[in-house]
Amino acid sequence: LTHLLTVEGLPRAILNQILDTAESFVPLADREIKKVPLLRGKSVFNLFFENSTRTRTTFEIAAKRLSADVYNLNINASSASKGESLLDTINNLSAMQADLFVVRHASSGAPHLIAQHVAPHVHVINAGDGRHAHPTQGLLDMYTIRHYKKDFTKLTVAIVGDILHSRVARSDIHALTTLGVPEVRAIGPLTLLPSGLEQMGVRVFTDMAEGLKGVDVIIMLRLQNERMRGALLPSAQEYFKHYGLTQEKLALAKPDAIVMHPGPMNRGVEIDSPVADGKQAVILNQVTFGIAVRMAVMSIVAGA
Ligand code: CP
Repeated sequence: LTHLLTVEGLPRAILNQILDTAESFVPLADREIKKVPLLRGKSVFNLFFENSTRTRTTFEIAAKRLSADVYNLNINASSASKGESLLDTINNLSAMQADLFVVRHASSGAPHLIAQHVAPHVHVINAGDGRHAHPTQGLLDMYTIRHYKKDFTKLTVAIVGDILHSRVARSDIHALTTLGVPEVRAIGPLTLLPSGLEQMGVRVFTDMAEGLKGVDVIIMLRLQNERMRGALLPSAQEYFKHYGLTQEKLALAKPDAIVMHPGPMNRGVEIDSPVADGKQAVILNQVTFGIAVRMAVMSIVAGA
């Protein structure tokens, strides 16, 4: 694996290799071991053209625990704000001997463009591009599900909310189906469900109560207002009434169902606080697992 641009098309063996490698890095994510030298001497550039809290920070932590040198480009203070093109920015950072670019961009396909452009020894990891893909979020979601549920082949997983604009949903669906989850459900209003879900093997529900019945895993999604140019947005109250996860709705899932959310959460819109902070929520554990998963991805694509 030279780059990680999408989960789509990656074979099950590669997904399992990443999850198994991540498991071996958990003592580093938990700070029981401080550092390993797998990326010593390598330069990792974090290029976040869109805002981020979890992904940018956990990539930085992961790279440092692999002993890489990490550079966080402040895009607002960079020459991108003076009109420099994306590839000119990449050319200049490559001239500084970059080994690995971690890229988040509002335009779908930007990390692919960079991967086609860089020298063969330079690696690119997609940290979220438009509504297309967020492969490391998909992988950390799979790590979380495997951690709590062990066997993918016996699970029913529901993804709830704004699936149309969600790069996380797309990466999750590809990973879940590749790993053998027999039932993946998409729950949301028709206006926020993309076409083609059934062809991807996904069962579609517009009624949340119906869709949550008997599920093992619930993945809640935020309304991605920043990608809804000109669309008729539901009010937060109206949305919460129909698609917000409350304790009452959670009770329709299996009693040991886990509740996940990639963050950032909008409490009172897609999730009620008692659920977000409740016993079944594993939302903050997802964040910690993200360090180990990002270490695994970086060591596999750029390690010796
Ligand atoms: N899940 C996720 O991508 O969060 P950030 O936008 O904070 O990185």
